[in-house]
Amino acid sequence: KLHGKDDLDLYHQEAINIAKIAGKLVRDAFYAEKNIDTKDHKTDLVTETDQETERIIKNHFKEKFPPHSFIGEESVAGGEKCNLTDNPTWIIDPIDGTTNFVHKFPFSCISIALAINKELVVGVVYNPTLDEMFSAIAGCGAKCNGKPIKASKNATEISQALLITEIGASREQDRINGIMDNLQKLVLEPYLARGVRALGSAALNMCFVAAGRADAYYEFGIHCWDVAAGIVIVKEAGGISLGAAGDPVDIMAREIVCAGSEVLCKKICSALTSIPHVRD
Ligand code: IPD
Ligand code: CA
Ligand code: CA
Ligand code: CA
Repeated sequence: KLHGKDDLDLYHQEAINIAKIAGKLVRDAFYAEKNIDTKDHKTDLVTETDQETERIIKNHFKEKFPPHSFIGEESVAGGEKCNLTDNPTWIIDPIDGTTNFVHKFPFSCISIALAINKELVVGVVYNPTLDEMFSAIAGCGAKCNGKPIKASKNATEISQALLITEIGASREQDRINGIMDNLQKLVLEPYLARGVRALGSAALNMCFVAAGRADAYYEFGIHCWDVAAGIVIVKEAGGISLGAAGDPVDIMAREIVCAGSEVLCKKICSALTSIPHVRD
């Protein structure tokens, strides 16, 4: 079956509807006490709200679009396969920025993307504490709270750029060495980035690039649910996402470099000579 513009509009609208409902759940829980559990690493946190939010989002799409498939962070943590097929697939991060959520740092979001034939066609990222709804449909531009957004093309050199990156949750010494090598390189001559931020949500980092609030974001170790929605939003805002070698982005590859301008994106890829491998 073909998925025309009307279908994509409907998918996009349903993603926004459920992101708002899920957002209320996250907002209500934000400043309350939480039961915290850990996953693979001591620094990899999860709460009941992560699980509850994922359940609500999945049930919504199951009811609205029964034939569709799902990949969700907490379902995968519970043993489900992370397998992207040609079937329309919702890729869900129920709370991106769980550590921020736990610490009441108001920078977490619900991230929802739809892939059809393995192509990302809808992206919705909602930060309930700041009430910012980022969204995009392939070919139709990106928006924040209904207003069009554009990525910045001002930085074509790293020395003109405000960068965002993250350390991530896994702290194997050799992986951290690679991350620090890259970071050190980017902040020193000759690259001399203007600044580096680590805000704690991959999806929101990408939306900040899409909105022209930062010039680029890169990270090693991300999962498809961290970046799927962000990729659509960055692209529709006129930006670009690549693999660390400057190759086309692959959401299963556990790495991403995105920027407002392609020139800058490729310069960052060339500067990232340490490729920290990912074990989990
Ligand atoms: C994490 C956040 C964090 C990034 C990690 C992600 P989670 O997602 O996006 O910023 O550094 O790589 O796993 O666990 O909070 O959904
Ligand atoms: Ca995440
Ligand atoms: Ca998450
Ligand atoms: Ca997590």
